[in-house]
Amino acid sequence: MLCGCSSNHINTDHTPQKTIYQTDTIDVSVFQTYSGMTNTWAKYIALTFDDGPHKKYTPELLDILEKYNVHATFFVVGQNIPGKEWILKRMQNEWHEIGSHSLQHRAYTEMWSGELIRDRDTTEKLIHDATWQFPSIYRPPYWLTNSGIQNILERPAILWNVDPDDWRYRNIDHTIKTITKNTKENSIILMHDIYPASIKAVPTIIENLENEWYTFVTVSELLYHNEQLLWGTGTCMSWRECHFYK
Ligand code: NI
Repeated sequence: MLCGCSSNHINTDHTPQKTIYQTDTIDVSVFQTYSGMTNTWAKYIALTFDDGPHKKYTPELLDILEKYNVHATFFVVGQNIPGKEWILKRMQNEWHEIGSHSLQHRAYTEMWSGELIRDRDTTEKLIHDATWQFPSIYRPPYWLTNSGIQNILERPAILWNVDPDDWRYRNIDHTIKTITKNTKENSIILMHDIYPASIKAVPTIIENLENEWYTFVTVSELLYHNEQLLWGTGTCMSWRECHFYK
């Protein structure tokens, strides 16, 4: 345990616990609370939702996740936060993780270093103002990052390895089938919480994957044993596919 500044929450059903990460610290003790219970057999995966928050669909999604007791990770766009701080607060209260997805969804490869830092800091401040907590991870829009950007932003970039293209098809069945077929242990699944078809697909996705004995955890929980990641400048598509530039 590196510091006492994280908090955890003990469920009685031994589902993985929410951990609150500071930007430069990690409290690994939270994982020890259930490691003896589930680590040997559990198959962890992370559901992630980009481009919100959306005032109607994100709360609908949160209702579904609450019903199934599933914790997800939300990569929010900074400019979508004003007026919807209560949605981020609810995410936090219900043990989801919040990461940055840039301020305006512009490609980071089109920005110079000063813009990159301003984009990072402005977005993280918007998240902090809503939740009193800074995010520790981000997701670059369009998968666009590189070693130069990583060394400027100094945050782990969370990519993905299961992609139903839900933003393109907006089709419930297509989203369900693609995710159910392609998910493996340690997968990071990409969805978007701004389309009704994506939200409607979630209950069946959860049921299908729980039937295959997957356990849903947040991204930081998925990556917890790789402490270096939480302050490193690498990219990750899944638990085992992290690439470091240094
Ligand atoms: Ni996006």
